[in-house]
Amino acid sequence: MTQQTETLRRAARLSVAPMMDWTDRHCRYFHRLISGETLLYTEMVTAPALVRGGALHLLDYSPEEHPVALQLGGSEPVELRQAARLGAEAGYDEVNLNVGCPSDRVQSGCFGAILMTRPELVAECVSEMQAECTAEVTVKCRIGVDDQVPEDVLPAFIETVAQAGVTRFTIHARKAWLEGLSPKENRDIPPLDYPLVHKMKAAYPDLHISINGGIATLDDAVPHLDHGLDGVMIGRAAYHQPYDILGLADQRIYGGGPAPSRAAIVHQMLPYIEGHLSAGGKLNQITRHMLGLFTGQPGARLWRRYLSEHAHGTGAGPETVLAALAQIPEPA
Ligand SMILES: Cc1cc2nc3c(=O)[nH]c(=O)nc-3n(C[C@H](O)[C@H](O)[C@H](O)COP(=O)(O)O)c2cc1C
Repeated sequence: MTQQTETLRRAARLSVAPMMDWTDRHCRYFHRLISGETLLYTEMVTAPALVRGGALHLLDYSPEEHPVALQLGGSEPVELRQAARLGAEAGYDEVNLNVGCPSDRVQSGCFGAILMTRPELVAECVSEMQAECTAEVTVKCRIGVDDQVPEDVLPAFIETVAQAGVTRFTIHARKAWLEGLSPKENRDIPPLDYPLVHKMKAAYPDLHISINGGIATLDDAVPHLDHGLDGVMIGRAAYHQPYDILGLADQRIYGGGPAPSRAAIVHQMLPYIEGHLSAGGKLNQITRHMLGLFTGQPGARLWRRYLSEHAHGTGAGPETVLAALAQIPEPA
């Protein structure tokens, strides 16, 4: 195993899930200030957008975000090879293939969760992706789709894809039901099956396996690691309560030091915000990801409301953020 792979495997003990419209570069920069170690994923970027559309700006990120993984969507092997190469050239530490997303747009392009029914095609895709990509290629999948029997299809899927050279998987521990459920419902309604993911680790001990789905706190995450899984991926909870998850991660998951205080993180965001505004960006594009920073703390609602009401306005800038911070009572 290369040094790079080992470093990533350690980082992947905890990761923030890829989330469209949520884990953009501003969100990841903010998350990185809270945890120096957690692996961060981009939103899904489709291979056609990069390769056919030439939308290379979708690969932009800040160097501070490392370790950071690019998630790709697609099912056309040669196109994915080109997209993975572009990702590695842009400096991403990992390129992940999305085999879990159930949205209509994704299904119609035959990618995302529907690929659970096409393990050979996924194997071909990841072989191609590895061919010209210096970053590690990984897969995020479900336990099955529709009427598939997860106990049968998941091991078969993992074996086929692992034979193509993938050694790290993240498994969202529920099926996707491709007919009749919205993407949002598909994140809540199909039942979670954590034991099956644990069984996969027992069956394939050499693979690095992360579990995902419905994990709301670090207290819920740690037992999965204690029981042998290699990593935990957290999505919605990390977004809505970033400090509760990421603020404790470096200490509890990686044995490192404490996070800066919430207020210190706000101050650390200011130069980044200034840079964004002077490049023509809007304050709200950044602060919308920061609304949950004080969740559970006195003043959380005032912080959220102040930013929601004032960060849209023309001229909104760092002083708007400081005014929102002033809504938070000083600790006694
Ligand atoms: C707003 C939103 C967007 C998402 N977009 C993606 C995506 O682009 N790629 C992907 O693999 N999963 C996506 N997901 C699914 C998450 O990565 C994750 O698998 C799911 O939310 C379950 O984890 P959680 O219960 O910790 O949130 C998205 C989830 C949400 C809430």
